[in-house]
Amino acid sequence: MEFKELVKTRQSDRSYENRAVEREKIEAVLEAARLAPSANNSQSWTFVVVDEPELKNSVAKNTAAFGANFNQFAAQAPVIIAVVAEKPILMLRIGNFIQQKDYTQIDIGIAVENLVLQASDLGLGTCILGWFKEKAIKKTLNIPKSKRLLLLVTLGYSTDKQRKKRRKAFDETVKWNKY
Ligand SMILES: Cc1cc2nc3c(=O)[nH]c(=O)nc-3n(C[C@H](O)[C@H](O)[C@H](O)COP(=O)(O)O)c2cc1C
Repeated sequence: MEFKELVKTRQSDRSYENRAVEREKIEAVLEAARLAPSANNSQSWTFVVVDEPELKNSVAKNTAAFGANFNQFAAQAPVIIAVVAEKPILMLRIGNFIQQKDYTQIDIGIAVENLVLQASDLGLGTCILGWFKEKAIKKTLNIPKSKRLLLLVTLGYSTDKQRKKRRKAFDETVKWNKY
């Protein structure tokens, strides 16, 4: 797909076919994430691919919030990718402190965007999930208590229709030369 088209086509998909995703496609989206840039090239991330149906369903169960069905669509996706923040290299920890920024969170956002764009190019749907019961999912996936599970990404063949993007106007978000 042409890049401009890809960026327009990628959307958060919240319903999926009951169809497995080919292993090479899963690997391709993870490869796109792996190649993402990161501050100090720290690459402070681990992607846990959850494709065993029972395990995946127990992760999906813990995406509900306030007892509501919010994010319950995750159970429909054949794959959920859990993105774990790893301890950054020393240079980045110093950078985080001096600049008062969490570069790892920024880096993981970028890697996940690579992942979802690659998925879209392969005809797959995704939804990035930032809202879930982190503690419970970490336990399910054997992620150490000390690490943060920052995002989940659902992956599968979407049955959603293409939506029109709802975005702020260009001039509202872009300033030239001075704020
Ligand atoms: C960091 C992050 C967290 C998100 N968390 C959720 C979520 O928990 N549940 C959900 O349905 N969508 C979630 N989304 C998707 C956004 O709602 C979506 O990207 C936004 O509304 C724009 O729509 P689009 O992705 O279809 O273009 C998240 C997106 C990002 C980038």
